[in-house]
Amino acid sequence: MRKTCIRYATLNLKGNKMSKPFENKLALVTGSSRGIGAAIAARLAADGASVIVHYAASSARAEEVVEQIRKAGGQAEAVGADLSSVEGTKSLIASIDKVFGGKFGGRLDILVNNAGTVEYGPFLESSDESYDKHFNLNVRAPIALSKDAGKRMAKTGSGRIINIASAFGEAAPLPGVTLYIATKFALHGFTRGLSRELGPLGITVNGIQPGPIDTELSPNPGDPAYDAMVKLTSVGRFGRVNEIAAAAAYLAHPDASFTNGENLTVDGGWNA
Ligand SMILES: NC(=O)c1ccc[n+]([C@@H]2O[C@H](COP(=O)([O-])OP(=O)(O)OC[C@H]3O[C@@H](n4cnc5c(N)ncnc54)[C@H](O)[C@@H]3O)[C@@H](O)[C@H]2O)c1
Repeated sequence: MRKTCIRYATLNLKGNKMSKPFENKLALVTGSSRGIGAAIAARLAADGASVIVHYAASSARAEEVVEQIRKAGGQAEAVGADLSSVEGTKSLIASIDKVFGGKFGGRLDILVNNAGTVEYGPFLESSDESYDKHFNLNVRAPIALSKDAGKRMAKTGSGRIINIASAFGEAAPLPGVTLYIATKFALHGFTRGLSRELGPLGITVNGIQPGPIDTELSPNPGDPAYDAMVKLTSVGRFGRVNEIAAAAAYLAHPDASFTNGENLTVDGGWNA
């Protein structure tokens, strides 16, 4: 009979007394001035991370998120950049060297590629601008940020990259979101491919595939699209931003070091 090897089964009996898991770690969460990103930023900060709260254009809501995090005893700074442009993405990357008074020396420990957009409507009526908008923000920016983050993380031999994809990233159960679906499938594939390259460097790359989550991006109650999405879940409701933040906290956690190339489904049974 196989003996239990205690060397590989050491129990963490001090679990509850441990310091916060992300203490002394720098996290960048794109699009964290509201919605899912704001919840992820707050959760990582509550668990000890110093968080860059990134916003697109107007700083007011990002500053509110920063204030809430600080009031709760956490650390956060707001940084603005339009990630639909190459210049904006470069400026966000450059800010990593400067945040928190340069305390992290250009290191980045956790990158959450969350910023994203969707435009509803028939594909045959979509514009060239809409292709660019979807692909630049939902795909190009995560790719550029991950390349920079991967180089920073490789220097320390550890890191976490988390891409917020979608339940629309592995299935197409509804019409009218074809471009969005195309970008989220791309992000799904990027996560898997990159995990192969960065895994040997001590960096994990995972995705989260949320189902319908109550945010400003999703349809409002009463909208036929809202009801259609509720019906696609087996739990019969929209998800809450905290339910996605919990998944991100897991993937970012040091204990998740054997989880790599996963696109974690958090969709209320949508794609079951
Ligand atoms: N809400 C849902 O049902 C749902 C489901 C699956 C996946 N997602 C994904 O979750 C992520 C967050 O979505 P959300 O629901 O919180 O949406 P949201 O609209 O509330 O937040 C989107 C964030 O992206 C940022 N953003 C938008 N345009 C930008 C730009 N040009 N440059 C930089 N940042 C920009 C916004 O400032 C905002 O912080 C997105 O990637 C979305 O595709 C959402």
